[in-house]
Amino acid sequence: MRAIQFHQFGSPDELFIGEFPTPEPSEYQIRIRVKATALNRADLLQREGRYPPPAGESPILGLEIAGEVEKLGSKVQKWKIGDRVCGLLASGGYAEYAVIHEDMAMPIPNNLDFVAAAAIPEAFLTAFQALVWIAKLQAGESILIHAGASGVGTAALQLARLIGAKAYVTASAEKHAICKSLGAEHCIDYKTEDFAQRIQILTEGRGVDVVLDFLGASYLEGNLQALGMDGRMALLAVMGGAQATGINLGMVLMKRLKIQGSTLRARTLDYKTALTHAFVEMAWAHFASGQLFPVVDCVFPWDNVAEAHLYMEANRNQGKIVLSLQPLIYSGKPSG
Ligand SMILES: NC(=O)c1ccc[n+]([C@@H]2O[C@H](COP(=O)([O-])OP(=O)(O)OC[C@H]3O[C@@H](n4cnc5c(N)ncnc54)[C@H](OP(=O)(O)O)[C@@H]3O)[C@@H](O)[C@H]2O)c1
Repeated sequence: MRAIQFHQFGSPDELFIGEFPTPEPSEYQIRIRVKATALNRADLLQREGRYPPPAGESPILGLEIAGEVEKLGSKVQKWKIGDRVCGLLASGGYAEYAVIHEDMAMPIPNNLDFVAAAAIPEAFLTAFQALVWIAKLQAGESILIHAGASGVGTAALQLARLIGAKAYVTASAEKHAICKSLGAEHCIDYKTEDFAQRIQILTEGRGVDVVLDFLGASYLEGNLQALGMDGRMALLAVMGGAQATGINLGMVLMKRLKIQGSTLRARTLDYKTALTHAFVEMAWAHFASGQLFPVVDCVFPWDNVAEAHLYMEANRNQGKIVLSLQPLIYSGKPSG
């Protein structure tokens, strides 16, 4: 098969499409003919040599795919050849074929094409895990979602609305419109405003119940200020640094705060299977009705993967960047 590989760790220029052994499904796996895959920040880090795939997993980039079932492992019961599925991978999505455990595959809702379906797994499973499993966000509560227009942010906004929680976001000013359209109560331009102060004003001093954070050190003090009594914070990345200093832990103590980190990729198959099932049970009817939908910023032909990586590195996307392995009907990509 052909797969996107890199000559050596480094810039997007290192990426190329070349021959790679086609993966064989083990007894409970299915092989997917990949029609579309989507970018994640982890791909950029892996390409730079800063985020290796878990032991035993494919060295090929790519954490999510949509496509058709092409081969069944000997004990597979749930799928048949030709079924349209999407799903989360530990790696291996940037390729013509990928294997996935049968319990990790999700049926593609009839109203979605492969491009849209490829944009669901990582963003929505991550957001679902953070809001529902980790932070236990409830109807009537409030949440501050950082990077509100990111792939994960756009999914989290929709899930918060579905749960019945009030969502505030931080994002670059030019991305506020999309956050509003997804249900954000108020958008904070973190480049010009102190988000913690703004949250205090917006919540009349109560603070929010939940924070979804990807920044880490640079936002920790502000997040602790923004959280209210019994607040919970899910920490999913450290884009703003991992080493925090000068933090007032008295706020954790006095407000009884809970902070939990998680990386989905490193979780066991059992955990990810349970997460996938719980997510499908909660969300699938809402994808079919159109209440939930993947936000796709743009689609690149997979030959243009380097351009796609540069686009993400420049923080230009609002929602997901998809790579299509099929001829493109539309791309949606802004010019320039
Ligand atoms: N732990 C997990 O299991 C897990 C799973 C999936 C993703 N993640 C993490 O979740 C984050 C979002 O992922 P994604 O794929 O949805 O990202 P994405 O679509 O690429 O969006 C990331 C956005 O974050 C904002 N940003 C970047 N650097 C920033 C900084 N220094 N300060 C403030 N904002 C910054 C930018 O938006 P603005 O223009 O608004 O600043 C950028 O567009 C990433 O950090 C990713 O690694 C974690």
